[in-house]
Amino acid sequence: MNSTDTTLVIGGAGKTGRRVVERLQRLGLPYRIGSRSSQPAFDWEDRTTWAAALDGIAKAYVTYYPDLAVPGAAEKVQAFFHQALEAGVDKLVLLSGRGEPEAERAEQMLKECDVDWTILRCSFFSQNFSENFFLDPILAREVALPVRPVAEPFVDIEDVADVAIAALTQPGHSRKLYELTGPRALTFEQAIAEISSVAGREIRYIPIPSEEYRAGMRQAQVPEEMIELVLYLFDTVLDGRNTSVANGVHQALGRQARDFAEYVQRTAMSGVWGR
Ligand SMILES: NC(=O)c1ccc[n+]([C@@H]2O[C@H](COP(=O)([O-])OP(=O)(O)OC[C@H]3O[C@@H](n4cnc5c(N)ncnc54)[C@H](OP(=O)(O)O)[C@@H]3O)[C@@H](O)[C@H]2O)c1
Repeated sequence: MNSTDTTLVIGGAGKTGRRVVERLQRLGLPYRIGSRSSQPAFDWEDRTTWAAALDGIAKAYVTYYPDLAVPGAAEKVQAFFHQALEAGVDKLVLLSGRGEPEAERAEQMLKECDVDWTILRCSFFSQNFSENFFLDPILAREVALPVRPVAEPFVDIEDVADVAIAALTQPGHSRKLYELTGPRALTFEQAIAEISSVAGREIRYIPIPSEEYRAGMRQAQVPEEMIELVLYLFDTVLDGRNTSVANGVHQALGRQARDFAEYVQRTAMSGVWGR
């Protein structure tokens, strides 16, 4: 990578984007964050913001918010890919989700572009337990979810960021789709039990029906579209289709993926789950 090439990191203050930015900083490589609060602002919902964000950009790490599974997301990212190419971007790294037909449509649209691409098709993030929707229930010591007892190979997003940086800065990742998972599949009950044990806090896991979950979310005034997205992920994506462990981290980096236990140790030490 040319040291003057600027990378646009969409969602650069978000979960994976923040980690990609930290790595670019450590490497001394130029970057620009693209989000509604960045300067210039980038908003997926307002295409007039895209040109300024893309001006002078050579590479982009593309995360879509709230989720590539949302109807219409694929067309939006496709329009972005085309605009990026016209603006002179020659490398696109797309964050995608495993087992989501809408996300696979977005992947296909990227593959059809005349550009150097890498796709990171990820399992459920481990960091959802510490930086996303499961943190509050963990702090309340009671996680009630409408999830079947299926196992999920949660991926540590430190690994996702490592692969993103490799794809953005090193040769050998062109036109590759990496399935990124952790090395071990756990049920949500097992995951909560590991967190409970290491964090030294009793945290109960309670399976509940979808309707009860929806009612609870509404009471907590979670926006309706976010409730539907989470229920879609629980009902459809977490039906067992993603239980198998994939070796994308090893393919991309030549080392094993971080285990959930390592994530739990590190996160417990940070104090985010309380002491
Ligand atoms: N969570 C998972 O387990 C998981 C698993 C696999 C794949 N994924 C994929 O990861 C992607 C990101 O999900 P995430 O939950 O991890 O989110 P995230 O990256 O943490 O996203 C939050 C960031 O998005 C920015 N943002 C919000 N709305 C925006 C908009 N309209 N335009 C531009 N930027 C916007 C926010 O900054 P501002 O507030 O400044 O705009 C913030 O920096 C999704 O596409 C999802 O499919 C997630």
